[in-house]
Amino acid sequence: MSDAAMPQLLVGKTAVVMGIQNDFSIAYHIAEAFGAAGARLAMSVVDERPLRYTKKLEERYPGSFTFTCNVANDADLDAMQETLKRECGTVDAYVHAVAFSPKEALSAPFAQTTREQWQISLDISSYSLVAAAQRIAPLMPDGGSMMALTYLGADRYFPGYNIAGVAKAALESSVRYLAGDFGPRLIRVNGISSGPLKTAAARGIDRFSDMYETLAGSAPLARPFHQSDVAKTAVFLASDLSAAITGEVIFVDNGYHIMGMSIPREEFGG
Ligand SMILES: NC(=O)c1ccc[n+]([C@@H]2O[C@H](COP(=O)([O-])OP(=O)(O)OC[C@H]3O[C@@H](n4cnc5c(N)ncnc54)[C@H](O)[C@@H]3O)[C@@H](O)[C@H]2O)c1
Repeated sequence: MSDAAMPQLLVGKTAVVMGIQNDFSIAYHIAEAFGAAGARLAMSVVDERPLRYTKKLEERYPGSFTFTCNVANDADLDAMQETLKRECGTVDAYVHAVAFSPKEALSAPFAQTTREQWQISLDISSYSLVAAAQRIAPLMPDGGSMMALTYLGADRYFPGYNIAGVAKAALESSVRYLAGDFGPRLIRVNGISSGPLKTAAARGIDRFSDMYETLAGSAPLARPFHQSDVAKTAVFLASDLSAAITGEVIFVDNGYHIMGMSIPREEFGG
């Protein structure tokens, strides 16, 4: 969708987008869609390497800016809160698109997960939502919208997704608990469960190409699936159109999650 075609649903809103690595990142496409919808962007990256990508968005959407934040460090998260307070005053939307699991934990069988692999995965992929949300909620005095990127591997067994799936289960449960805590303050918290997309994080998953091909061949909707599909749902969730939705996980996956059997689309009924 071109910038001109994007409905101006986020004019006057400030959105924090966390997790841009490069221009394949789901967060990059969400930031781009938010900018096109009229939002001011505050982009959070883990280190300096993604800055050349966020610079492109800063140039396209004036008033936008980027800061670094490693979610493993409380000091970085505190600094994020200070930066947002200083630069924006208040925030309307927050996107959590961050995950990490040690590579070895995604190639050996899940049953061999070590305590250290578990702790790293759950800390970076799940607790980080709680840690960021507790610092951003005070910057949403008039309510707001938070959303986290998740995957069907939270509920189903995908060989090789392993500890990343357990971390997504904790993330989705955290979405519901945060939605309950923050609901009275009119802060919504939701999950977006994306189908498989070719990104840097996806490259770390041994069986990713099987996951990707399965969706392409046997999801109900016979259409290409792209980061921009997830981004458009994020615009909806950040906008006032989703004012009554919280604690929900919305699947954006061409409908793959309803399937009871993985069979070629040509063999479907109808
Ligand atoms: N790509 C997929 O198929 C897919 C499907 C469903 C959900 N998701 C989720 O979408 C989100 C974004 O992933 P992506 O696929 O766009 O890949 P990506 O690699 O582009 O993004 C992952 C991001 O996590 C960041 N990150 C990792 N450790 C961090 C830390 N300690 N502090 C701060 N940031 C850190 C990375 O810098 C990167 O920007 C993740 O939560 C991922 O699990 C991805």
